[in-house]
Amino acid sequence: MAGPGALFFGEEERKQVLEVLEKGYLFRYGDKSAGNFLARVWQFEQELARYLGVKHALAVNSGTSALLTGLAALGIGPGDEVLVPGYTFIASISSVVFARAVPVLCEIDESLTIDPQDVARKITSRTAAIMPVHMLGNPCALKPLLQLARKYKLALIEDCAQACGGSYLGKRLGSYGDVGAFSFNIFKTITAGDGGAVVTSQTRVYERAFAFHDQGHRPLRQGVEIGRRPFFGLDFRMTELTGAVLLAQLGKLETILKVLREKKKLFRSLLVGNQHFTFRKLNDEAGECATILSVIFHDAEKARRVARKLNTTTVDHSGWHVYANMEQLLKQLTVTPEKCPFTCPHYRKKVQYRKGMLPRTEDILRRTINISIGISDRGLGAGFGITATSPTSEIYRRAEEFLTVVNNT
Ligand SMILES: Cc1ncc(COP(=O)(O)O)c(C=O)c1O
Repeated sequence: MAGPGALFFGEEERKQVLEVLEKGYLFRYGDKSAGNFLARVWQFEQELARYLGVKHALAVNSGTSALLTGLAALGIGPGDEVLVPGYTFIASISSVVFARAVPVLCEIDESLTIDPQDVARKITSRTAAIMPVHMLGNPCALKPLLQLARKYKLALIEDCAQACGGSYLGKRLGSYGDVGAFSFNIFKTITAGDGGAVVTSQTRVYERAFAFHDQGHRPLRQGVEIGRRPFFGLDFRMTELTGAVLLAQLGKLETILKVLREKKKLFRSLLVGNQHFTFRKLNDEAGECATILSVIFHDAEKARRVARKLNTTTVDHSGWHVYANMEQLLKQLTVTPEKCPFTCPHYRKKVQYRKGMLPRTEDILRRTINISIGISDRGLGAGFGITATSPTSEIYRRAEEFLTVVNNT
């Protein structure tokens, strides 16, 4: 099942896509005077930057590309350590690996986002960046994280893939970091099936990001511009069709968030006061996206039995969102002075990734069940719940079902 954005597809998306198709020009660059180039990707970038309150937005083809582009733009590479939470989608970690830096895993707290205290413990002379992930639409504790970043002169890369439209202390997520990275894949608040964006308010970072995403070119190149490309890049460009869909979706984002927040508020209110569980901590209640209602049980065994009866899983079983389930990480990545997968001859530390290395994270996730409000994704452990279009009667029914199972299991 998809995320909320896809359930809001309608006339607006259709119109946008048909306009592009009728003109027959799908590349993000073109000659405006020719009449067939509608510049939808460019418009989407302008609208997204305005919505988020940042200077620059760069559209790319996925959230993974956005993270990798952000890391490259910040100059993070071999020998650098990047602090990432042990509970995140695998792309937060694989993007660091492909930047040839070293992912250093940190614990989460009851907000299910990175624990600033563990971040503080894990900063070394090699640390180059912190990557807070606004997991399940919940803003990270950005205030203490920013303090650490400033104190130790570290870059902050916000992984906003699961939190488009969320905010923290009145400012949008993505506008706090040196870089913010977004995903518009099918499970996200707004979607075009796939897609992503890198945002920043630093013009130099934007220019580097642009170059990395497009063969080293400067923003909005005309032609191939030989002699004006400072370094190698790749091709993570977005097409006009994707830009067109996302323009329509962005126009609906506030409506989508309002719907999700209302439904979550009601669902939560129906569960309040149960002795067996609490709710996950929210670092900014008004700013969370409300895509998931996470409940944390006191007892892991009880949580497991409840999840099984509801035909879902506890979050520790939610596949590649949990470091202990990432076979790529556990099997392949052992950084030693002799054998360094990051091809960094200067990295003289042994880093191993093994189950049990983040005991607090594993303990919390073992006791947590994700109830879907807008994202029904078994990969997230959100196999039980409602969708963004569920009527009120279904919310009552599902909440009652949940409580009945909890109280009788
Ligand atoms: C936290 C997080 N980061 C990064 C990504 C990667 O985004 P994409 O699938 O668009 O590459 C995702 C996607 O699910 C995600 O949830």
